[in-house]
Amino acid sequence: MYNKGCMRRQRTFRGVLSVILLIIIMVCILPVGAGAVDEENCLFCHKYRGLSYINKEEDFRLLYVTEDLYLNSPHGSLKCSDCHEEIVKFPHVETPKVDCLKVCHMDDPSSGLPFSHQKVGENLVQSVHGRFDDEGKPKQYQEDYPDCKTCHMDPLYRPLSFLKETMPGLEEKTIARCAICHEGKAFMAKFFNHFTSRMQKLRKPMEVVEMCGSCHGDADMMERHGLPNLLKSYMETFHGKALVFGDEKAADCTDCHVSPGESIHSIHSMHDPKSASHKDNIYKTCSNIDCHPKAKMSLAGYKAHVMLTMKRNPVEFIVCSFFVCLTIGSFVPLMIFTVLDMLRNVFPNYVLFRKRSKKQDETY
Ligand code: HEC
Ligand code: HEC
Ligand code: HEC
Ligand code: HEC
Ligand code: HEC
Ligand code: HEC
Repeated sequence: MYNKGCMRRQRTFRGVLSVILLIIIMVCILPVGAGAVDEENCLFCHKYRGLSYINKEEDFRLLYVTEDLYLNSPHGSLKCSDCHEEIVKFPHVETPKVDCLKVCHMDDPSSGLPFSHQKVGENLVQSVHGRFDDEGKPKQYQEDYPDCKTCHMDPLYRPLSFLKETMPGLEEKTIARCAICHEGKAFMAKFFNHFTSRMQKLRKPMEVVEMCGSCHGDADMMERHGLPNLLKSYMETFHGKALVFGDEKAADCTDCHVSPGESIHSIHSMHDPKSASHKDNIYKTCSNIDCHPKAKMSLAGYKAHVMLTMKRNPVEFIVCSFFVCLTIGSFVPLMIFTVLDMLRNVFPNYVLFRKRSKKQDETY
């Protein structure tokens, strides 16, 4: 189901030609460099920035992989073929889409069981973003529902932003400590990053908002599902404004829509009692240890999204309309008078319509 809607690649003469050309160029002029992870030599071709083509839908596809970025991502220790199965021939005969839920060639060290992201898949299926309803029937507008690749790209390990200011060089100091006992530099860096990058969001809160907003700010799409534009109403609140000013700690969409301790993929409708934004759970969500632990019960009455329509929030709508009218009603005349006054100062003797005086008439 995760392969739906993906673009079909074009296998044309052009592809074959470009491979032959590439091989000739690379063998003749350029030095060959292959990383330790890249034992299959995929980067032999895929490290070149020009590697691209335009497919049938006229989409420009960039096919290069930057080795350095690849190695610094959570998947950096995997072989390319761990995900891209069945790519064994050059030129490639077939390049099937990657299945994010396949079982990997590795075990979870904590349980010894084969590793996969299938648990995430289950959480997603059961969430409001799942493509099937309670009876197992496909929901309408399948293409509106996100899959793994809609929300994720392989991130880079993020340095600990909240410690950077007060403790620069945390990484060096800590890794130096590991080195008292351990030998391998790559081992230490890998596990340091593995752990510390999970002490904060992988993406900045603003990036989370943009990602959720790519659908929830799309008024047409949301209308199909009977939802308002939640991005707009969020940006109008204190949390949204704090985020715009660069506050990393202000609540983003996932802070309020995922119950503390749950998978981030378990987002439910506000009408579902399991939801973090269900009226009975709002207080628990807001008073979470990371947010407002000392909050009074009344905080639950705070409106996280204020949709300014007569139907949803009549009081706010009327107050807002009043102030808009008041502001426009007082500013516009004020501006007009100020401009007229300025003009008078610049041209003190200018008269727009000169009255024809009797004296003037007599001169003719
Ligand atoms: C000889 C050069 C060469 C090597 C080696 C090579 N590729 Fe490619 N690859 C290409 C070219 C050229 C294309 C685009 C034309 C095509 O699709 O055949 C491509 C296309 C792809 C695509 C499809 C992208 C798309 O959406 O169309 C994937 C995925 C891919 N390669 C992965 C790999 C992997 C994984 C390896 C290593 C096992 C690898 N390649 C090794 C040259 C190479
Ligand atoms: C963790 C899994 C994973 C690993 C490891 C991985 N890829 Fe990919 N790759 C993907 C996914 C997912 C896509 C998106 C397209 C798809 O679904 O097939 C992709 C897309 C691509 C594309 C096509 C880009 C495009 O825009 O369509 C190329 C080329 C590619 N990968 C090459 C590589 C090479 C070379 C390596 C090894 C250095 C590698 N990949 C390692 C998961 C992976
Ligand atoms: C609605 C958007 C969305 C969808 C769909 C989605 N994810 Fe996520 N996922 C997220 C967000 C947001 C995070 C938290 C990342 C962060 O901390 O910034 C996350 C976190 C993760 C993590 C943990 C990463 C880490 O290092 O902490 C994994 C693994 C993951 N997702 C896998 C998947 C897989 C597999 C799928 C498909 C079954 C999927 N996700 C679908 C939004 C999504
Ligand atoms: C005082 C010595 C000592 C220090 C300091 C130390 N380690 Fe270890 N570490 C060990 C020993 C001994 C083991 C193996 C025994 C065990 O599993 O408890 C181990 C196990 C590990 C393992 C598990 C390996 C496996 O395959 O089971 C990881 C990962 C690890 N250390 C990472 C680190 C990192 C990262 C640091 C620095 C932040 C660090 N260690 C600091 C002594 C140390
Ligand atoms: C690819 C588009 C897409 C993305 C990305 C997306 N959503 Fe959604 N979301 C939807 C659609 C479509 C629905 C309507 C689902 C339904 O009613 O079956 C929905 C429903 C919801 C609902 C339930 C609304 C209700 O009360 O009925 C919440 C809450 C929600 N999304 C939050 C989020 C958050 C938080 C993110 C970011 C982590 C996110 N969504 C990312 C498309 C998306
Ligand atoms: C401060 C907490 C908070 C933040 C941040 C937040 N929400 Fe909400 N959201 C709520 C609450 C609480 C509700 C329940 C309805 C209400 O009280 O307005 C809700 C309702 C919703 C609904 C259902 C609305 C309906 O009318 O059916 C969707 C969809 C949604 N939020 C998406 C998002 C998206 C997307 C973001 C990020 C741009 C976001 N939320 C940010 C707390 C939050």
